[in-house]
Order: sequence, then C-alpha cells, then structure tokens
Amino acid sequence: MRILSGIQPSGALHLGNFFGMMRPAIELQNQGDAYYFIADYHSMTSLFDAAARRKNCLDVALDFLACGLDPKRSVFFRQSDVPEHCELMWILSAITPMGLLERCHSYKDKTSRGIPINHGLFAYPVLMAADILIYDSNVVPVGRDQKQHVEVTRDIAIKFNEAYGTTFVVPEPRIREEVAVVPGTDGQKMSKSYGNTIEIFGEEKALRKKVMSIVMDSRTPDEPKPDADQNNAVKLLQLVAPADVAKSVEEKLRAGGFGYGDLKKALFENYWNFFAEARARRKELEGNLDYVHAVLKEGADRARAVASKVLKRARQASGLE
Ligand code: ADP
Ligand code: TRP
Repeated sequence: MRILSGIQPSGALHLGNFFGMMRPAIELQNQGDAYYFIADYHSMTSLFDAAARRKNCLDVALDFLACGLDPKRSVFFRQSDVPEHCELMWILSAITPMGLLERCHSYKDKTSRGIPINHGLFAYPVLMAADILIYDSNVVPVGRDQKQHVEVTRDIAIKFNEAYGTTFVVPEPRIREEVAVVPGTDGQKMSKSYGNTIEIFGEEKALRKKVMSIVMDSRTPDEPKPDADQNNAVKLLQLVAPADVAKSVEEKLRAGGFGYGDLKKALFENYWNFFAEARARRKELEGNLDYVHAVLKEGADRARAVASKVLKRARQASGLE
C-alpha cells in the first residue's frame, strides 16, 4: 500500500494539523510505503514572503520529525525538489473540466468572503492531484476539509484513464472521523486562516494564554453543565489527556461546581505534557540542522526516482513520447 500526504508551509503547525493529519500519517508509516512532503509550491498561492516560506519549510520539517515521522520508514521531502509534480499538473489540467474546480469548497469559500484569488489557488486541486497520482498513491490521510480535493483527484485520474488508457492508480482519502474537525479557540474549525489556533510547539506563556482564551459561555462554575461533551475545551482535552482524566473532568462539569478556568488549566497541563517528548526532540533537531537538510535531500532523491517513472508513463500514454 502506498500512502501519501502533504502539508503546506504556510505558518506554524497546530493541533488541528497534528490530530487531523500528522498523527494519522505518522501511524500509517508502519502499514505501508509512506511518502510525506512539505507542499511549498502550494504555499505560493497564499504566502508571498520568500524568507517566511524558507523558515516555514524548515519549521514543518522540524515539527514533523519531532512528532515521530521516521525518515527510515517514510520518504520525507520538499515538493519543489521534485519539479515533475508541475509537469504532471499541466498534463492533468488539460483534461480537468472547469466545473470540477468551480465546485471546490475551498475556492468558493474564499470568493464568497471577498478574498481576491489568483489562478494558482483556483488550479490548486490539479496540483494536488498531480502530487497524489505521481506516486501511484492508494491512500491519502487528511482532515475532512481536504476530502473534496481527494475526490477531485479521483475524478481526474478516472478521466485521464478513460481518455488515454489506464495510467493512474485511483486513490482513496483516509479520514479519522473522531478527529475530522478539531475546534479552534473560537469554536470554528482550527485553522491558520481563522487566527484561532493552538500551536504544537512554541513559547509556554503565549500558548497558555491561548488555551485560557478559548471562548466559553457565561454559566457560573456552580451551574451543572449537562452538555459538557459539546464544550470545545473538553473536545481538545479528549485528544490530549488520558481517557480517564478527560472523563472525570467532563463528569465534574456535568455535576456543577467546576468552572471553566479549572477546565482550561487541566487542558493546558495535559496538552503541555502530551507534547513534552516531542518538544525535547525538536530542541535536539534544532541543534542538528545538517541532519534535517540531509533527510530532505535523501527524501527528494527517492521521491524523484518514483515520480519520474510515473510521469514518463503519463507522457507516453498521452502521446508526448
Ligand atoms: P489550515 O486550515 O490551518 O491552513 P491546512 O489546510 O494547511 O491547515 O491543513 C493541513 C492538514 O491538516 C490537512 O490535512 C487538513 O485537513 C488538516 N487540518 C487542518 N486543520 C484541521 C482541523 N481543525 N481539524 C482536523 N484536521 C485539520
Ligand atoms: N492541500 C493540502 C492542504 O492544504 C496539502 C496538500 C497538497 C496535500 N498536496 C497534497 C495533501 C496531496 C494530501 C495529498 O492541507
């Protein structure tokens, strides 16, 4: 089984990224042949600061390695080190109906908010299709918001196969329903673009402040809260705390006499402990950047070997060769 996923270097990675995509991806590396990459070409559609892109790429690499991505088991690389993705994108673009892209939520969402969009952003599902198809991927672990893009990839693969003969493997999204949408500090989906994130790594004081800022209703500590399982801090606690700890907090909220301040304190402590080991590993890696660069270089060489073969197949099928 070939597993593939990518993440954009568009800012510091957060709990939504970790539980929605990184952890499932890291767990899957034991079950198949895993390819994970830093989607720097994708980041060009929304980030226009060269220094920030360079820094974010390195940060994503550090975050992923610290969280347990094992470069001996997975091929880990930077997308732009494999320029074959772009050539395949063009080949796929030419058989992608406009309507398929016009129906994409991420594009519709941006236009409806009045955000001016560039051609790259509109065409990005085609680049994502190229990213996936160029490795003959079977399984794509992502959060729910990316499901539609994997479906677009399937449509494009099927269309190409019909037009030019079977060339591409048709992939499947893999979504963990229990963490499909991690809530942010304001209760919406946690996302860099909503400014409601809690980062995986960062400075303790600032992160504590973010946890304490999670929006709650105005009920007093004494009031019983029968809907405790709907509380966003409880939902986050369930992700970072041992099951019995999360359950006992939930029960205390239901019973009354336990306030939101205590809830958030418990959340912060458990969150901080949850990433303690990864934090130490990240510190070590920061002192060994040569190793990180070497991992990405080796990953790119291995990825490119596969990508160039699949691209050649597509070039031959479509009459370019
Ligand atoms: P952001 O919305 O912060 O820009 P990305 O779109 O870069 O995040 O997402 C990277 C990966 O993390 C994707 O697979 C996405 O589905 C997953 N992801 C992001 N936010 C969440 C969330 N709040 N809950 C679950 N998964 C998420
Ligand atoms: N579009 C994804 C995101 O924003 C990142 C991504 C790019 C990706 N190419 C991919 C994810 C291929 C899975 C497979 O989160």
